Amino acid sequence: MLWLLPIWLFRIIRLLLLRELTGKEKMKTLFQIAIGGLVFSYGTTTLSYLFQFGENVIWWYWIPLPYFDGIILNIYQFLYMNLILNVFTKRALTFKRIAERWKIACIRCNLLVPSLEEKAPKEIPQVIYSDKDFFRIAAKGLTAAYIEGKKTELSNACGLFIWSIRPAKGKNGEVLPGLIDVFYTKQDLPTAIKLKQAQRPQFGQLNFGVGLHGDYFIKLTEMIHTGIAGLPGSGKSVQLRSLIVQAMVVHPGAICIGLDFKSASEFHIFAGRGNFILTDNFEEAAIILDEVYQEYFRRAELVKKNEVENVYQIRGPNGERVNPIFIFGDEMAEVFSPLSKLESKETVEAQKLVIDRLSKLARLARFVGVHLILATQRPDAKAIDPQVRSMLKTRIAFKLSQKEDSILWLNRAAALELPDIPGRFLLATDSGIFEQLQGLFVSKQEVKQMLEHIATGSSQLYRRIKGRLSQINSEGGSADGKMSEPGLPGERILPEGSPHS
Ligand SMILES: Nc1ncnc2c1ncn2[C@@H]1O[C@H](COP(=O)(O)OP(=O)(O)O)[C@@H](O)[C@H]1O
Ligand SMILES: [Mg+2]
Repeated sequence: MLWLLPIWLFRIIRLLLLRELTGKEKMKTLFQIAIGGLVFSYGTTTLSYLFQFGENVIWWYWIPLPYFDGIILNIYQFLYMNLILNVFTKRALTFKRIAERWKIACIRCNLLVPSLEEKAPKEIPQVIYSDKDFFRIAAKGLTAAYIEGKKTELSNACGLFIWSIRPAKGKNGEVLPGLIDVFYTKQDLPTAIKLKQAQRPQFGQLNFGVGLHGDYFIKLTEMIHTGIAGLPGSGKSVQLRSLIVQAMVVHPGAICIGLDFKSASEFHIFAGRGNFILTDNFEEAAIILDEVYQEYFRRAELVKKNEVENVYQIRGPNGERVNPIFIFGDEMAEVFSPLSKLESKETVEAQKLVIDRLSKLARLARFVGVHLILATQRPDAKAIDPQVRSMLKTRIAFKLSQKEDSILWLNRAAALELPDIPGRFLLATDSGIFEQLQGLFVSKQEVKQMLEHIATGSSQLYRRIKGRLSQINSEGGSADGKMSEPGLPGERILPEGSPHS
């Protein structure tokens, strides 16, 4: 039995060497070992046959069949080594190893703090705690923002993907002074990120998700309109939810229109909060979009008068800014596909008006701060009006199953190859950016908490729309496609209490 000892010693050394590897690298090495073992056993057996039988060796000894057990043994070895390694590599990133890697990375990236004694060597912001997706360091006077600036460098030096660095927070959300949390993953991208963990965008921006270079902010002036496509369950509604919360929290005066024709169940959490106007029918949508269209004329006039490029460059006397108007739509096929013959004439007319207003706003309203963010399962002409589609310059593709859909949406078939991770998508912009991102998850419960303190109805346009909606509701009638009075050009459109620059 003693002869087994060196074999096991060899195996343990091999495991120790291999545990540094992950993913494809590891599989490749294991595969090489298995093939190596196969060649070795095949070779030695052949040699032994040669040795034993000399000239009596017959040709079929070289056919692998007699050594079939060798192949099976190697496949078995391959599988169990992989199993052990998986356990190993998961356990391997223990506190000690994280601390070690972090220390080396800090030295390489010159993340050092001068110590109190002048002559003593500089100190490292040391790891004091580690978990499976983050570790905590003692800040020693460094700020999270400063370390964040070296994120990419640190990621490379650590051999981990560090995607966020933030002041540490306790269980109840209280900031823990002097401590910083470093969030990392071993995969390319984290598979689940909460909106709460992500960085807050500034006014005029939205955080679309986390990519290889961290949080991905898009400026509204560059985003213009966004289209979201993806299979059911891929994360479209959650992405919309996350963008709506951000829109409302970062721009408390923004008007958010929610078109949710499929039972209105996705957006109902926003109804009655901030300046959110929810609708699930064409009659109301026609009125709402028509009001936004009138607002477009008012804002266009304002842009002209102020001689600026877009409405976001305008400042009121106290530095107020013009707030964005967002039109969020889920399951847009419900809006664009032809109605059944059973629908009333009014509804059919209202649908025409809705589609007309959407495509006008999509085409014209880019510089007045009106942004469409529309989601659909499929991007074909049946599900989304091609005119509107062509104006959705920022595109999100969750996993798709049809090649032609992916090509139509992104000019390539890449959306078919996305991993089956909810919230994982490809982002394509017309400035040529093409990136895989993980969307920010936010639950309905969290939405409620985050919007608790947002003032309702702070915007004039909101009140105007609500007024018109209550009119038709009290009349019990429906929209007859009649337009509102064009807006008064001189009217003040900067809502009270809008954020200052
Ligand atoms: N960014 C995300 N991170 C983690 N899980 C997500 C994310 N987006 C979606 N999911 C999960 O996938 C489920 C389906 O998402 P949903 O947005 O309703 O899909 P869709 O609207 O595309 O049909 C959600 O209930 C959630 O559990
Ligand atoms: Mg959905």
